Amino acid sequence: MLSDSKIEEAAALIRVSRRPVILTGAGVSAESGVPTFRDAASGLWSKYEPTELATPQAFQRDPDLVWRFYQYRREITSLARPNPGHFALAELEAQKPDQWIITQNVDDLHEQAGSQRVIRLHGRLRDSKCSQNCKGDPTLIDLEKYHLNLLDSAPRCPYCGARIRPDVVWFNEMLPFAALEAAWGAISRADLVLIVGTSGLVHPAADMPMDARDRGIPVIEINPKPSALTPVVDLWIDQPSGAVLPELVRRVAAPA
Ligand code: OAD
Repeated sequence: MLSDSKIEEAAALIRVSRRPVILTGAGVSAESGVPTFRDAASGLWSKYEPTELATPQAFQRDPDLVWRFYQYRREITSLARPNPGHFALAELEAQKPDQWIITQNVDDLHEQAGSQRVIRLHGRLRDSKCSQNCKGDPTLIDLEKYHLNLLDSAPRCPYCGARIRPDVVWFNEMLPFAALEAAWGAISRADLVLIVGTSGLVHPAADMPMDARDRGIPVIEINPKPSALTPVVDLWIDQPSGAVLPELVRRVAAPA
């Protein structure tokens, strides 16, 4: 059963907010069939070792292995469709035109659901770039145009011959500067932060709600399990986002 009084409390806070920021993680896409990273049974990092697949060093060591891992993840996300949680956040943006979503996810599900104000901290799985960024950062390569999209090994950049890699952020890498700047800007202007489906273990994303909290801004979390951020939030709704968000957004629009 949904925790009714908490949803009502969260809806009341969101109703008066004009510049909400929603920080999302893998959990928001879990009900679309996209695996999370750290859930014990189904999380990607419980099956695979991140240092062997998601670092620049791993790519240097074995680009084909890393490429295959990302092709596998592309296949899964290309079949996924937005779930009611993604649609509810898009609906909330229609009510709150100054809302921003800051996502750590590399899928496209927020955009597919209709959200337009999305800041991507960790890049996009669908995009590929030259690993040397030979024509500027990022040098995006349209794989289909060059008939490289079905290859089982890391293709070569058509401009310089270096390997092509997914345009995602790996461990030990900097986040894209423009996205980071936009995210901190949104957080600094926010009057409420809603955290959805993140373990809160990866920085700097996890610092953003902390910064809002330190400024006395209400911070709400939706996550069926406690995260690293749960101890500092004002309100924790311990239910899956695909179930909670539609009800929450309905109540923001139409108070009980
Ligand atoms: P994690 O896998 O670390 O955490 C997913 C969170 O979602 C957990 O806290 C789950 O309890 C929660 N969750 C699971 N199902 C849910 C549901 N239906 N509704 C709501 N919450 C649910 O994923 P992230 O926090 O996104 O980085 O991981 C952060 C970053 O670590 C990722 O962006 C990725 C990874 O390494 C990069 O690839 C750079």
